[in-house]
Amino acid sequence: MNSLSLPPHLNHLAIIMDGNGRWAELRGRDRAFGHIRGARVAKETIETCAKLGLKQLTLYTFSTENWARPKSEVSFLMLLLGRHLRKERANLVRNNIRFSVIGQIDRLPQAVRDEIDKTIQDTKACSGMNLTFALSYGGRQEIAEAARVLAREVAAGVLRPEEITEAAITQRLQTRKMADPDLILRTSGEYRLSNFMLWQAAYSELFISETLWPDFGEKTLEEAFSHFAGCERRFGKTTAQIKEPTRLGLVQ
Ligand code: IPE
Ligand code: IPE
Ligand code: MG
Repeated sequence: MNSLSLPPHLNHLAIIMDGNGRWAELRGRDRAFGHIRGARVAKETIETCAKLGLKQLTLYTFSTENWARPKSEVSFLMLLLGRHLRKERANLVRNNIRFSVIGQIDRLPQAVRDEIDKTIQDTKACSGMNLTFALSYGGRQEIAEAARVLAREVAAGVLRPEEITEAAITQRLQTRKMADPDLILRTSGEYRLSNFMLWQAAYSELFISETLWPDFGEKTLEEAFSHFAGCERRFGKTTAQIKEPTRLGLVQ
C-alpha cells in the first residue's frame, strides 16, 4: 500500500462488484473463471480496507435476481462462496474483521449457511472493520419484509399506524445496526443500483468505475476516494449552510 488513505467521513463503503463474466469472456474463458478471479480481488479489497481503518465494508455478492441465472452458474457461485468463507475465516480473525450477512439467507444451500454461521461465530469478538456480504439480497424484498413486520405489529396491537416513521422502517431493515453507505462504488461501468440498498442509498455518494471487478485494485479505490473527498454532502441544505453553519446560526 503506497499513499492510499481513507478520505474524511468515509465510514461505510459499499461495493457492487460487477463485471466478472465480461472479464472472463474478453479472455475467451468461461464466466466461472471471472468469478474465481473476482473472489480473489474481493479478498484483497477486504484486507486493504481493513488496513486503512474503514469501519464498515459491504460487498454486494449475490442479488435476489441472480437466482435467475443458469443453474450451473448459480451452483458454481455457491460453491465458490462456501470455499471462500472456509478458506478466509482465519484471515478475517487475524485481521480483526467482524463478519455478517444481509439478504434472504434461508434460500442459500445448507452447506453455505453452515460456512456463514461458522464465520459469524469465529469473528464475533473482532473489533476492527465490520464486513457484510449482501447475499441473496434485494432492496425491494428487504423493504417488503420490513412492511410485513410492521403490519404484524400493528395487527397485534403493539404499534400504532402513526408510529410507522422513517426510523421505525430503518429499525426493521436488515441493515438496522449499520449506518447508511457513505459511498457506493460500482465497477464495470453500469449506472444502476440493481436492487442494492434502495432505502439506505437515499444520500449515498455514487462512484461508477469502468474497471471490471477482476481488474479492481488500489488505483480504482484511490479514484473512488478522491471522488468522495470532492463531494459536498448537502443533504438537501445549501452550500452556505454546510460551509458556515455557525455563522448562519443553523447548527442543529
Ligand atoms: C458480478 O459479475 C458477480 C455477480 C453478479 C455474482 P457478473 O457475473 O455480473 O459479470 P457480468 O456483469 O456479467 O460481466
Ligand atoms: C449486481 O450485478 C449484483 C451483484 C454485483 C451481486 P448484476 O450483474 O446482477 O446486475 P445487472 O443484472 O447487470 O443489473
Ligand atoms: Mg453483472
